Amino acid sequence: MTGLQRGRFITLEGGEGAGKSVQARRLEARLRTVGLDVVRTREPGGSPHAEELREVILSGFARPFGAEGEALLFAAARIDHLDVTILPALERGQWVVCDRFADSTRAYQGAAGNLPVEAILSLERIVVGTNGPDLTLVLDLPPEAGLERAGLRRGQGGADRFEAEEIGFHSILRRAFLDIAAQEPQRCAVIDALKPEDEVEADIWATVEARLDPAGAARARE
Ligand code: TYD
Repeated sequence: MTGLQRGRFITLEGGEGAGKSVQARRLEARLRTVGLDVVRTREPGGSPHAEELREVILSGFARPFGAEGEALLFAAARIDHLDVTILPALERGQWVVCDRFADSTRAYQGAAGNLPVEAILSLERIVVGTNGPDLTLVLDLPPEAGLERAGLRRGQGGADRFEAEEIGFHSILRRAFLDIAAQEPQRCAVIDALKPEDEVEADIWATVEARLDPAGAARARE
């Protein structure tokens, strides 16, 4: 690899209706504007096999296996997603913007699903190892506001496996994401997702510029 810098890996995390998908698209556009090559992806999913597992999990089909079974399915999907999509892109020098990643397993299956933190972290060591994100943006808002937004987005359709959980579950999620950010401040930044979309976009961009210097990285590629 002569002169080709490895890309950077950015994840967006948070509860339901935090606006991660919208902000992932906006961040992708901003990164392209400075001249970077970007792969935008999501979890669960992001590779053909992982997308199949997404259907299995979000339909509720895997619910009888419990939080352990679901954590293993998310992990299997993540292995494929890393191998097929994320790592090859980073090696090509592309920047990867991913809507949810391993912190969602810590929050949903760990904190909210009551799996022991050691079990979740050892699974993460096996699946992710040293291939974790360079920057994680935690989009934070009160769960009531997030669920309302998720309901509006969905329209008449039914809530998916996790949206259908009660408010207490979503409050635990919020706390869990904030705890992760507090424990790993060098990797994570908390973004106030209750603000209007344009302001959230600007806050995210200021954070990405300060932490990862995308314009500098783009110049180094020229
Ligand atoms: P999705 O429709 O992508 O929801 P959102 O817009 O909220 O990201 O559905 C993903 C769901 O899967 C979401 O409820 C969070 C959950 N999830 C986990 O429980 N564990 C995980 O490791 C991941 C990646 C997602």
